Amino acid sequence: MLMTKRVAVAGSTGFVGYNAVKGLIEAGVSVRGLIRRGSTSKRITELSQIGVETVEVDYNETNSLIEALKECEVLYHFVGVSSQSAAINMYEVNTHITLNLVRAAKRGGVQGFVYNSGLGVNTHTTQSYFLSKLHAERIIRESGLRYTIFRPSYIIGPGDEFSGYLLENILRGGTIPVYGSGEYRVQPIFVDDAVHVYVGCIISDGKWMKTYDLVGKDIVRFVEYIRLFAETLNRKVYFKHVDLEQAYRDAMRQRSKRRYNPYLSVDELDVLISDFVSSPRRLESAFGLGLTPLRVALKKIARKLGYA
Ligand SMILES: NC(=O)c1ccc[n+]([C@@H]2O[C@H](COP(=O)([O-])OP(=O)(O)OC[C@H]3O[C@@H](n4cnc5c(N)ncnc54)[C@H](OP(=O)(O)O)[C@@H]3O)[C@@H](O)[C@H]2O)c1
Repeated sequence: MLMTKRVAVAGSTGFVGYNAVKGLIEAGVSVRGLIRRGSTSKRITELSQIGVETVEVDYNETNSLIEALKECEVLYHFVGVSSQSAAINMYEVNTHITLNLVRAAKRGGVQGFVYNSGLGVNTHTTQSYFLSKLHAERIIRESGLRYTIFRPSYIIGPGDEFSGYLLENILRGGTIPVYGSGEYRVQPIFVDDAVHVYVGCIISDGKWMKTYDLVGKDIVRFVEYIRLFAETLNRKVYFKHVDLEQAYRDAMRQRSKRRYNPYLSVDELDVLISDFVSSPRRLESAFGLGLTPLRVALKKIARKLGYA
């Protein structure tokens, strides 16, 4: 039974936010989608089409956020970036916007705060992405709000950027760069499972004041993951092994001048090779969920995209 009738979703135009919104609407919740001022996302129209009330906000302006959160019982916070550049300051997006949302949630009478941090966030980290998330987590925990913090592994589904990139390259017989050994592990979680969990936060009260690793059922080596993806598509995969030192050097160059690594930033390489995995048991038991096996998830993605 639903305990919450109206929620707000910050980052509703993103891959995770948009899928969460769809799941919440299907569960019968009224959703207000927060859209950053000036966003050109195609999903804004799609959000309106599925019955979401969209509100443009300035994430650096507490009053605009308080207004947008009016009458919302729970705030889902899915705003975030995974790399920085001269134009994007990761701390400002991941940490400072969290602070603004927490302040607005408190002043606006929001009762619960759900946040996506990152798998591997810990107090020993020295890496920018994890640090920005660690500080965001601390702000939330110290806020006095009821919270649920998720530390997701890679969330896969139709529309996620990395799956799209793999699909495109495998289908055209291109090579997939493997940085370093490729033996580091990944533990992708299917987006429908993640959505089940997000919705589960407002179905019963027992999930507050907790932090969960949002991980998939299967742990695989990175190269194995790509092989499985290709197998699902009935295609052969060609790897190009790239020395890690070269990959980092390459990632520090202008995108257009990169030889091996046109997509990943230094921050994303850090996360990719970080090798963080976790037991999914606590998540499964708390949310009454049987996680989708990786092969099944990949089949579903390929089918949804019209390739299986
Ligand atoms: N996807 C994953 O596998 C994964 C794994 C671990 C953690 N997470 C975390 O989950 C959250 C959502 O991830 P995602 O994959 O959905 O990311 P995404 O698709 O890139 O979406 C990011 C969202 O944040 C908004 N945003 C980005 N920069 C902003 C800024 N400067 N000011 C205001 N809004 C901004 C985007 O708005 P626009 O549409 O207007 O750009 C979009 O709504 C992030 O915090 C991410 O770190 C994701």
